[in-house]
Amino acid sequence: MAILKSQMSTKMYDWRVGSIYSALSQAGKEQGPLEVSDLLALGHLDQYHYLGVSACDEGIDILGLNENAVVLDVGSGVGGPARYLSHKTGCQITAVELQQSLNEMAIELTQRVGLEDKVRYITGDILNIDLEQNHYDHFVSWLVFLHIPNKEKLFSTCFNALKPGGQFLIEDMVALNPFTEKEVETLETVIFAPDVPSCDAYRGYLENAGFINIHFENLSVPWTGWVNDRYQQHHAKQAEHIMLYGEEVFHSRAHLYRKTTELFNAGNLGGMRITGEKPQ
Ligand SMILES: C[S@@+](CC[C@H](N)C(=O)[O-])C[C@H]1O[C@@H](n2cnc3c(N)ncnc32)[C@H](O)[C@@H]1O
Repeated sequence: MAILKSQMSTKMYDWRVGSIYSALSQAGKEQGPLEVSDLLALGHLDQYHYLGVSACDEGIDILGLNENAVVLDVGSGVGGPARYLSHKTGCQITAVELQQSLNEMAIELTQRVGLEDKVRYITGDILNIDLEQNHYDHFVSWLVFLHIPNKEKLFSTCFNALKPGGQFLIEDMVALNPFTEKEVETLETVIFAPDVPSCDAYRGYLENAGFINIHFENLSVPWTGWVNDRYQQHHAKQAEHIMLYGEEVFHSRAHLYRKTTELFNAGNLGGMRITGEKPQ
């Protein structure tokens, strides 16, 4: 499984580093201080989940984040959500990311927007790092857990990191209906999602870890619209995107976006916002 994960991170996410440098350079912002808004203008390059920064805004409202909150962000990518949450609310964030190249980019961007005292980064697999226990008021995770098949260890790690009474917010893929064999193969080989559980199975994992007040909000309809739009926009802006990403990345993105769109359109793959808490 470790091999699968490292293949996943290199194949799926490495391209983002070069593309961010390229986009910043095209905006004349290769070096020097940046505003968070400069990074939000990069859209999906900064916020690599569905529905962009509005998903973070909803998370902020649901969790009631403010300057006193201590937050763990699991699978933080290039730090887009972590920077935005801290910029908007003043909260302190520890952001954990598997892939070193993404974390190096995250650290550089965070320094350039002046948030380095608020957001710290740990490079490593969430399943194998030393996290403070009973420490965090909240954990958040946008579109990451689909890549982590060992849900038992994942949720017990997250449970132990939260303070008693701490809350979480996850956005993740779920199985709305059983997948076809072909869909299982696409999930494994294209999306690198080796275990996408049903809502019942997901709830079971969370309850077994000790979480309570678990709530699922079905995001499948807006996510389906969003992935369809992403696929169309990718092609509509082909020349611009090839300039930004290069030819090879453009085509590999097109393949991933098409396969993801097909999965959502077929109706067996869905998306959920899942919230809950650790008992007092
Ligand atoms: C779809 S991206 C989402 C990034 C970020 N949450 C965002 O919304 O911009 C998934 C991220 O999860 C990271 N990831 C996958 N497995 C992980 C693990 N076991 N521990 C930490 N990060 C992981 C990947 O490297 C990738 O950056």
